[in-house]
Amino acid sequence: MSRSINLAVIPGDGIGQEVVSQGLKVLNAVLPQDVKLETKEYDLGARRWHRTGETLPDAELDALKGHDAILLGAIGDPSVPSGVLERGLLLKLRFAFDHFINLRPSKLFPNTETPLAGRPDIDFVVVREGTEGPYTGNGGSLRTGTEHEVATEVSLNTAFGVERVVRDAFERAAARPRKKLTLVHKNNVLVYAGHLWKNTFDKVAAEYPQVTTDYLHVDAATIFFVTQPERFDVIVTDNLFGDILTDLAAAVSGGIGLAASGNINPTGAFPSMFEPVHGSAPDIAGQGKADPTATILSVALLLRHLGYEVEAVRIEDAVSADLAERDGTARTTDEIGDALAVRVAG
Ligand code: NAI
Ligand code: MG
Repeated sequence: MSRSINLAVIPGDGIGQEVVSQGLKVLNAVLPQDVKLETKEYDLGARRWHRTGETLPDAELDALKGHDAILLGAIGDPSVPSGVLERGLLLKLRFAFDHFINLRPSKLFPNTETPLAGRPDIDFVVVREGTEGPYTGNGGSLRTGTEHEVATEVSLNTAFGVERVVRDAFERAAARPRKKLTLVHKNNVLVYAGHLWKNTFDKVAAEYPQVTTDYLHVDAATIFFVTQPERFDVIVTDNLFGDILTDLAAAVSGGIGLAASGNINPTGAFPSMFEPVHGSAPDIAGQGKADPTATILSVALLLRHLGYEVEAVRIEDAVSADLAERDGTARTTDEIGDALAVRVAG
């Protein structure tokens, strides 16, 4: 195992700055003495765009390649036209670094709120395909702006792309205690892509007899997320379904302040990127009100990805314990970060 971490840090905009510094605080506290942590901060996001008009220049994309992983806060501000930073920065990174796994764990921690009645036992992870589906920009429009406008947005699914994400999901399911994997698609209507996904899933399943498998149409999955979330362990799905399902997952399991994610290239060819699911929250930025827990849980995913399993679990346990003891007293971003840093070090 490598005993040094060369981390790229993109705090970004709004509360991104505030939560990332807490993430780094906890990372520093949890790492053993002999692990050398090097960080380099990249100034990217809305502020940079306003200043220079740049989103992600090639020189910075190249520099980012040299890191072991990337920690990102949040990118975006209402003052930037929609799509500029999403396409020019976030999607550009995801495609350039071939982040074909978008990993989103959902866990209902103790003493947290869920809109669901009866506090079901929620502990599942969504493995969302990250580089294909309808998000490749494969489309166009004709007669744009007229009554006869025609728009296409083609969903791209390759045997290679589907198989690599399905394999990754089977590996993750096999490593978890319940060993259950659910494929979510809509193969009764989207028959071409749906059959590629289902056939690939069934083929790979034969290599993992220890993993229990299930299939759900995406509409049925939304019902079960609300009525029976405890039935899920690992879920694998395409880019669009995964985008929608993971927001629902965050909503039923403690909310946006706790949702962590990873944009992962499991081959290690490029650095993977870890970030809270939430955005830059301009409504509370600069007030010390942001909950840094989602970012700190993203740091746990980052550590697990780099092979620091013990440290990852220590962060997750610290978050669990911290949440269990929350009594409704408001704490600042910094105070929550301090409390977690103390717990992981102790
Ligand atoms: P948002 O997630 O920034 O905020 C939604 C609501 O949740 C707000 O009321 C906010 O105060 C609250 N919230 C979010 N994170 C919180 C935290 N850690 N602690 C406490 N409360 C929190 O989503 P919104 O308002 O739709 O987007 C704001 C900006 O962020 C936009 O420019 C958007 O494009 C960008 N964005 C960026 C993302 C990214 O960097 N990956 C993801 C989502 C949005
Ligand atoms: Mg989303």
